[in-house]
Amino acid sequence: MDLGFAGRNVLVTGGASGIGLACARAFAAEGARVVALDLADGPADVPTVRADVTDEPSVVAGVTEAVGRLGGLDVVVGCAGISGPVGTPLVDTLAADIAAVLAVNVTGQLLLAKHTYPHLSTGGAIVLLASDSAFVSAPGMVPYCASKGAVVALTRALAVELERVRVNCVCPSIVDTPMARGDLGDDALDQADFPVQSPADVARQVLFLAASPTVNGQALLADYGYSARSGFPA
Ligand SMILES: NC(=O)c1ccc[n+]([C@@H]2O[C@H](COP(=O)([O-])OP(=O)(O)OC[C@H]3O[C@@H](n4cnc5c(N)ncnc54)[C@H](O)[C@@H]3O)[C@@H](O)[C@H]2O)c1
Repeated sequence: MDLGFAGRNVLVTGGASGIGLACARAFAAEGARVVALDLADGPADVPTVRADVTDEPSVVAGVTEAVGRLGGLDVVVGCAGISGPVGTPLVDTLAADIAAVLAVNVTGQLLLAKHTYPHLSTGGAIVLLASDSAFVSAPGMVPYCASKGAVVALTRALAVELERVRVNCVCPSIVDTPMARGDLGDDALDQADFPVQSPADVARQVLFLAASPTVNGQALLADYGYSARSGFPA
């Protein structure tokens, strides 16, 4: 199936690592022209513009440079994110750590939409990384879960407000990335007794949403069906 990305212009935040990098490579494999926007430089095969999604002048400068390189935007993917002090109970969590999670995961997505929308072509698409943590939790994840719930809500609000483009988000369960390994440790992922997605699995979800002209304002929960399970042992 031709997804229609050949020659299209794609910007991916967080594109230097993990899911964002997999998305950048997946779009490039479909023939798209891709620029990553990230705090860090990624691998050489993904051109990267350095910017901080929490800082509005930095976002404006980064988007301007990316648009200058690409000549326009057709798809924007918001993957930049942090997990914050995962494992720390809320009562022991510093206000500064809460603010940092919300700044990257929520404000960062809002600034991305604000400053890329004027450059997006009619019929373009924004796909944001939320998480299954918008819907389910484990202890020690309150700020992160709150931030991802906000991404689902702001996705729906943007889909209503932004008339020329579609806005959707993906909500994957645990994915094998540097973030997950940093939070859980290598052993937890290498000997996992729970299903673990690859970044390429999530990239497929992102490309599906970007390529589907009738899907708008949706949160795609990709969790192997776990959240559909009844608590009743039927
Ligand atoms: N890994 C998982 O299990 C998982 C599951 C569901 C959702 N997610 C979400 O997927 C997204 C990508 O996560 P990942 O696991 O690939 O993490 P990652 O740490 O591998 O990659 C995140 C990237 O975001 C960049 N970044 C962080 N803060 C930034 C900022 N202020 N400005 C610009 N770039 C910034 C980092 O430099 C990094 O390249 C995040 O939003 C995360 O919450 C991850």
